Amino acid sequence: MSDNQSRSQFPAVRLRRLRMNAKVRELVRETRLDAGDFILPLFIRHGAGQRIPINSMAGQSQITVDLLAEEIAEIEALGIPAVILFGIPEHKDSVGSDAYSDQGIIQQAIREIKRSGSNLLVITDVCFCEFTDHGHCGIISHAYGQADVDNDATLEILVKEAVSQARAGADMIAPSGMMDGMIASLRQGLDLAGFQHIPIMSYAAKYCSGFYGPFRDAAESAPQFGDRKTYQMDPANGREALREVALDLTEGADILMVKPALSYLDIIHRVKQAHPEIPLAAYNVSGEYAMIKAAASNGWIDERRVALEVLTSIKRAGADMILTYFAKDAARWLRE
Ligand code: PBG
Repeated sequence: MSDNQSRSQFPAVRLRRLRMNAKVRELVRETRLDAGDFILPLFIRHGAGQRIPINSMAGQSQITVDLLAEEIAEIEALGIPAVILFGIPEHKDSVGSDAYSDQGIIQQAIREIKRSGSNLLVITDVCFCEFTDHGHCGIISHAYGQADVDNDATLEILVKEAVSQARAGADMIAPSGMMDGMIASLRQGLDLAGFQHIPIMSYAAKYCSGFYGPFRDAAESAPQFGDRKTYQMDPANGREALREVALDLTEGADILMVKPALSYLDIIHRVKQAHPEIPLAAYNVSGEYAMIKAAASNGWIDERRVALEVLTSIKRAGADMILTYFAKDAARWLRE
C-alpha cells in the first residue's frame, strides 16, 4: 500500500466520534439554553378583566393590570427571571404624558406586580411611541424643515418617564428610543432622584427594522406619519453599532442590547468581541416570532425545534440573555 492510499483510508481526524450518541453530544455541547437566560415582554392594557389575543403574534395577549398577578406567578414558576413591560394607555397625546404619570399604565402594572409579592425582576421599556398620538418615540418638532423627533426635548421627558417608573418600583430600565445622549441623561436623572441602584439596559444598537411590524399592532404604536429612520439605525451599518455601544458604555450603560437578533447575529458577535466583559442582551423581536408561528401553524416547520434552534443561535453568537416571546414555551420545553 502506498502512503497515499493509507492516508485516504484512515482519515486522521474523525469529528463524528463526538457526535456518536446523545451522551457524548451532551458532553461536548458548547452552548446551553436555560430559562434563566430569558426576559419575557408583556403588553399591559388599560381596562379590567381582559386578555386580548394579538392576531399577529399567536399565543401573546394584551392583558389588563388586574390579571397580572396570576400571569406573573406562572412566569416565575417557570424559572424565568425577568419581564419587560410595554403599555397601551387609555389616552395618547402629543407628548405621551401617560408615560411619565405616576398613575400611568406602566406605573400601575409595576405596583401590581410588586403588590403580588413577586420577586420577578421588572424591567421597563423607556420610550414614547406607545404613548404618543403620532406614534413617534418622542416630542415632534418642525425646527429643521421636516417633522422629526426633537432629541434634547425628548431627553427631558425620557428622564421624567424613567424616574416615575423607578418610583413605582421598576428594578431596571431599558431605554429604546435611540436618542443621542439618552444614557447619560437617564443615569444623571435617576441618580439625582435617588435611584443610583437602578441599572440601565440600553437598546444600544437598535435597527430601523421591518421585523417590528407585529409589535406595532400589539402596542398600537405604529408611527402615524413618516418612519423611524432619523433615530433608529440603518440595517446596512455594522461599524456604526460599535460606536453606539461604545458611547452608551461611556455614558453609563450597565447592559447592552442588540435588536433585532436574527438578521443581526453578526452585530451580536461583534459587540461581544469588542466588549466581552459587558453583559449583552439580544431582542428576538415580534416579526421573528411571528414568522416561526406562521410557518409552524401551516405545518411547514417544527415550532419547538426551530424556536430552540433560533434561541441557541442567538446565544452562540454572543448574547448572554434574550428578550423573547418564546420565553414561557422555551422554559417548558427545556424542562421536558
Ligand atoms: C419601542 C420598541 C419597539 C419594540 C420594542 N421597543 C418598537 C419600535 O421601535 O418600533 C419592538 C419589539 C418587537 O418587535 O418585538 N418602544
